[in-house]
Amino acid sequence: MVLLILLAPCTTALTSPSNTKDLAALLEFKAQVKDPNGILASNWTASAPFCSWIGVSCDSSGQWVTGLEFEDMALQGTISPQLGNLSFLSSLVLSNTSLMGPVPNELGRLPQLQNLDLSYNSLSGTIPSILGNLTRLESLNLNSNKFVGGIPQELENLNNLQILRLSNNDLSRPIPQGLFNNTLSLSIIRLGSNRLTGEIPGSIGSLSKLEMLVLENNLLSDPMPAAIFNMSYLQAIAVTRNNLRGPIPGNESFHLPMLEVFSLNENWFKGPIPSGLSKCRNLDAISLAVNNFTGSVPSWLATMPNLTRIYLSTNELTGNIPVELSNHTGLLALDLSQNKLEGKIPPEFGQLRNLRYISFANNRITGTNRVWINRKSITQK
Ligand SMILES: *[C@@H]1O[C@H](CO)[C@@H](O)[C@H](O)[C@H]1NC(C)=O
Ligand SMILES: *[C@@H]1O[C@H](CO)[C@@H](O)[C@H](O)[C@H]1NC(C)=O
Ligand SMILES: *[C@@H]1O[C@H](CO)[C@@H](O)[C@H](O)[C@H]1NC(C)=O
Ligand SMILES: *[C@@H]1O[C@H](CO)[C@@H](O)[C@H](O)[C@H]1NC(C)=O
Ligand SMILES: *[C@@H]1O[C@H](CO)[C@@H](O)[C@H](O)[C@H]1NC(C)=O
Ligand SMILES: *[C@@H]1O[C@H](CO)[C@@H](O)[C@H](O)[C@H]1NC(C)=O
Ligand SMILES: *[C@@H]1O[C@H](CO)[C@@H](O)[C@H](O)[C@H]1NC(C)=O
Ligand SMILES: *[C@@H]1O[C@H](CO)[C@@H](O)[C@H](O)[C@H]1NC(C)=O
Ligand SMILES: *[C@@H]1O[C@H](CO)[C@@H](O)[C@H](O)[C@H]1NC(C)=O
Ligand SMILES: *[C@@H]1O[C@H](CO)[C@@H](O)[C@H](O)[C@H]1NC(C)=O
Repeated sequence: MVLLILLAPCTTALTSPSNTKDLAALLEFKAQVKDPNGILASNWTASAPFCSWIGVSCDSSGQWVTGLEFEDMALQGTISPQLGNLSFLSSLVLSNTSLMGPVPNELGRLPQLQNLDLSYNSLSGTIPSILGNLTRLESLNLNSNKFVGGIPQELENLNNLQILRLSNNDLSRPIPQGLFNNTLSLSIIRLGSNRLTGEIPGSIGSLSKLEMLVLENNLLSDPMPAAIFNMSYLQAIAVTRNNLRGPIPGNESFHLPMLEVFSLNENWFKGPIPSGLSKCRNLDAISLAVNNFTGSVPSWLATMPNLTRIYLSTNELTGNIPVELSNHTGLLALDLSQNKLEGKIPPEFGQLRNLRYISFANNRITGTNRVWINRKSITQK
């Protein structure tokens, strides 16, 4: 306290009238971290206005802190609740800064905040529901921490949110049903590697700007909402390792013109390989391994201009290996192992010179024909 009383008039005298409330908040922030490399100790000094301090940015009047941003720097400590006093803060980035402890509720009092990035720390406790008050927020990144509990229902109020990243935590419970009812600006959703349960909320289908949906490594169940397969801007669907099931909508209800990555590995999907994928002309990778897909390996795969990786291993696929695929010289990986495919490996596969990975193992392929690809002999094993 003595320090504050001494410093505040000092900076006021040196510069244009500095805001003592913001100054006090910054000093309290500094006091709550260990700063082992002494960066704050040497730079955040009373001899210079706080707007010139490393990691701090101010508005044009030089009075109000608008940004507090540190990345990849050891701060070690907890997040000071006093940061909630930085009334004009629009960007708070404390990413990979060895912080722990909870996210203080006071951060919910930052009405101007547009960017909140606390990723790659060891923050714990629950995600405060008061963050739902930050209605200007455009990006919320809490990736790679130790958060527990559910995703707060209140986040549904973030109607300017474009990016939501909560991956690599220990979040559980279902995704709140209304989470996507009003967050209509969302373009990136990453909730992977948590323990989320239940079904994917149907309201996700109303996110007309959605580009990336990553829900991999969770415990999500039930069929996916059909609306997910009818989104104009969606480029990536990654739901690997969940308990999702059911058939996927047919060609006429399948409209994903921008799709590049379709990753449904390790679920309980069944039915034919979705023929609607044949319309996704930008498709780069299709991963449907370890499901219960049936029917044949479709020959239209050979007509997908940008397709480089095909993973269909461990399903119930039958029929022959389509010889047409041998013309798709852009292929880098082709895994058809662990199915019920029959016939022979077409010798034309020798044309696939760019292949880095190929497997037909554990099928019902007959004969002992050898196919040479990149000077390696591929047999049915
Ligand atoms: C603190 O760091 C900033 C940004 O690197 C620099 O401009 C400023 O001169 C430094 N101040 C002191 C006192 O070292
Ligand atoms: C975190 O920062 C350290 C340096 O402090 C760096 O080596 C590491 O790669 C960073 N981690 C991430 C995930 O960016
Ligand atoms: C800043 O915030 C703290 C706790 O959030 C509060 O107790 C204190 O009165 C505030 N300080 C100023 C100068 O507003
Ligand atoms: C958060 O928003 C609710 C509803 O708008 C309001 O009642 C509450 O006072 C706000 N809390 C804070 C800390 O601003
Ligand atoms: C979200 O919208 C769906 C309709 O899409 C509605 O059934 C549900 O009640 C809404 N949930 C909330 C919490 O508003
Ligand atoms: C697909 O979405 C559009 C609006 O984006 C809608 O008009 C159409 O009915 C939907 N198609 C299906 C099969 O749900
Ligand atoms: C899917 O439907 C389109 C028309 O929307 C059609 O041109 C295409 O041949 C169909 N593809 C398959 C595999 O049925
Ligand atoms: C797909 O391939 C075409 C032509 O080869 C190319 O113009 C286009 O940019 C590619 N799309 C993507 C998403 O890579
Ligand atoms: C997968 O398909 C096989 C054969 O159709 C069936 O016996 C099995 O019960 C299915 N498994 C699941 C989990 O649906
Ligand atoms: C591969 O392409 C060539 C030239 O376009 C064509 O003549 C041939 O029939 C194709 N082979 C297969 C198996 O589709």
